[in-house]
Amino acid sequence: MKVTVVGAGAVGASCAEYIAIKNFASEVVLLDIKEGYAEGKAMDLMQTASLNGFDTKITGVTNDYSKTAGSDICVITSGIPRKPGMTREELIGINAGIVKDVSSNLVKHSPKTIIIVVSNPMDTMAYLVHKTSGLPKNRIIGMGGALDSARFKYRLAEALGAPISDVDGMVIGGHSDTGMVPLTRLATRNSVPVSKFISEERLGQVMEDTKVGGATLTKLLGTSAWYAPGAAVSALVQAIACDQKKMFPCSVMLDGEYGMKDICIGAPVILGRNGIEKIVELELNDAEKNHMKESAEGVRKTNDLLAV
Ligand code: 2OP
Repeated sequence: MKVTVVGAGAVGASCAEYIAIKNFASEVVLLDIKEGYAEGKAMDLMQTASLNGFDTKITGVTNDYSKTAGSDICVITSGIPRKPGMTREELIGINAGIVKDVSSNLVKHSPKTIIIVVSNPMDTMAYLVHKTSGLPKNRIIGMGGALDSARFKYRLAEALGAPISDVDGMVIGGHSDTGMVPLTRLATRNSVPVSKFISEERLGQVMEDTKVGGATLTKLLGTSAWYAPGAAVSALVQAIACDQKKMFPCSVMLDGEYGMKDICIGAPVILGRNGIEKIVELELNDAEKNHMKESAEGVRKTNDLLAV
C-alpha cells in the first residue's frame, strides 16, 4: 500500500506520522515544493520509527511526481492555511490553482489512485477535483466531516463530563463555520440520546463550539490546526487501505442523495478498498433538512467562484 501526501506542512507531516505509526502502509511519499523540506520531514519522521515501532517507509521529495507513481491513495494538503480572522472560503483564489495542478500531476502518475482532499475551502476543492481530474466519483473524498465529528465528540464529552469513548456523534454538511450540521439529535452516550443528560441550551452551545472548532484553534495557534486534521485523514486512509467498510461523514459528490446534485458536501459514507462504497441517507427532520439546505447554498456560492 503506497500513500502519497502532498504538502509537508504541519497537516501533511502529521498525516504522514499518524499513517506510519498505525503501521498499515508499506510506503508514504511526502511531496512539497519547498526545496528539501519534505526530505527533511521524512528523515525526521523515519528517525522516530525505531522508537514508535513502525516499518512504514517514509520518503520525501521536492516536487518530483514521478516518485509518487503507483500510489493507491493520495492526500492533498497543499495550499495556504487560514490566518486568524480568515474564513476557509477566502483561500479559494490561491488554493484552487494549486489543487488543480497537484491533482492533475497525481493522476498522471497514479491513474488508479483514490484522492483525499484536505485543502480549503475543502468542499469546493473536492468539487474542483471532480470537475478536473477525470477520476470516478467514488475515488474523490473530501476530509472534513471526519474532523468536524471528532471535534463534536470532544465538545460533547466536555459538556457531558464523560470520557470521549462513551460518546458518539456526527457532523454532516459543509466544512465551514456556518455550513456544519452537527447532528445533536442523533448523538448518544452509550446509545442513550445525549439530550437525556444535558439541556437543550447546553447542546446548542456544543453545536456552536463545534462549528467554530477550526476558527477557535486558528485564533489560538496563529495558523490552522494540524493534529486532529492529520489524525482524521489517517483514519480515512486506514479505512480504505484496510478495506474496513467504516462509516465516516465525508465530502462526496451527491447525485440525488439528500435531494441534491452536482455538489460535494458532507454526508455519511462507507469507506473501503474502492473508496466511497456507499452514501448513507439519513432520515433528517425538518430543522436538519433546512440546515443542510442552507449549508449547500453556502457551498454552491463558493463553487461559483471557480471557473470550471
Ligand atoms: C480545520 O478545520 C484544516 O480545515 C481544517 O482545522
